[in-house]
Amino acid sequence: MNIKLKRYPILSENIIRTVAIEEAIMECEDVKTIKFNMKNENTNYIIPRPGQFVMLWVPGVDEVPMSVSGCDINGNWSITVKNIGECTDAIFNLKRGDFIGVRGPLGNWFEIPEQKSKNIFVIGGGIGMAPLRFLTEELSKHKIPFILIQGAKVKSELMFANQFQILDKKSVDIFYCTEDGSYGSKGIPTEAFETILETYSKRLFSNAIVYTCGPEKMIYSIYEICEKWDIELHASLERIMRCGCGLCGLCVIDPLGLLVCKDGPVFKTETLKNMEDFGKFKRDFTGRKVEL
Ligand SMILES: Cc1cc2nc3c(=O)[nH]c(=O)nc-3n(C[C@H](O)[C@H](O)[C@H](O)COP(=O)(O)OP(=O)(O)OC[C@H]3O[C@@H](n4cnc5c(N)ncnc54)[C@H](O)[C@@H]3O)c2cc1C
Ligand code: FES
Repeated sequence: MNIKLKRYPILSENIIRTVAIEEAIMECEDVKTIKFNMKNENTNYIIPRPGQFVMLWVPGVDEVPMSVSGCDINGNWSITVKNIGECTDAIFNLKRGDFIGVRGPLGNWFEIPEQKSKNIFVIGGGIGMAPLRFLTEELSKHKIPFILIQGAKVKSELMFANQFQILDKKSVDIFYCTEDGSYGSKGIPTEAFETILETYSKRLFSNAIVYTCGPEKMIYSIYEICEKWDIELHASLERIMRCGCGLCGLCVIDPLGLLVCKDGPVFKTETLKNMEDFGKFKRDFTGRKVEL
């Protein structure tokens, strides 16, 4: 019998590239930015977009998803890691010259509006600021004004302050909030967001888009506020990932069967509305559904 096997091409973004760490920068306690070049000797180079992620492999340890937190025209990418477990600890301790494997850019991205008339909010908490940092760079490049709200538990956990400082003050308003009140207003990003909405007129925000990333409970509260004010939301969600490319099903969100690695990680209001798991459940490493 002559069986013809169809050979599917391996997508260029799904090939692991071995790259050397060029720089490791301490951002704040337990958070580091790692830079590496993805363009050199890469004939299939793909420019990442804000919101996309990579699967980052530390030899002998694990492979984990990490958002791209920056990219320059020379193909120097960065990821920003919070040390919370075995693999993130290994990434955190990488030095210049160490080798890692990088697969990506993977997933979808934050779509940037074509009209500059939209009122843009960028709201992040904790390590959720990593993809949002890249987004703010892109918005600034396109000269799109935006309001940035960043929350952290304490002042020492606020990230990228130096980089946000050099953004054009005429087009960017930055609000910081900390839970202990050690910097900016005392409270959480959702409170700051509601205060801004209530202070200015509804008319001003009828044409708004909110981009967010951070703890899912925070994202869910932002979603509820956006629903109340009829504001479009683009939220980047996290789930435990094994393959990062639609094979293992671990990152599935019920009941739509959407995969965070392939259909996300960025989801818009219309989809979030129909996700029963959103803000409530995730899957653990065995695939069992557990409360967030
Ligand atoms: C699309 C996407 C983008 C991400 N971007 C970043 C980023 O820019 N910076 C960053 O520091 N982290 C990011 N994460 C989270 C990061 O992948 C996890 O923190 C990491 O995989 C934990 O691995 P570990 O071996 O250090 O922890 P483990 O020892 O495996 O686990 C430690 C704890 O983290 C939880 N955890 C493990 N994996 C994940 C996961 N994928 N998402 C959420 N919680 C998890 C576990 O349940 C456990 O409670 C992202 C996750 C996704 C899905
Ligand atoms: S991580 Fe395997 S399907 Fe999404």
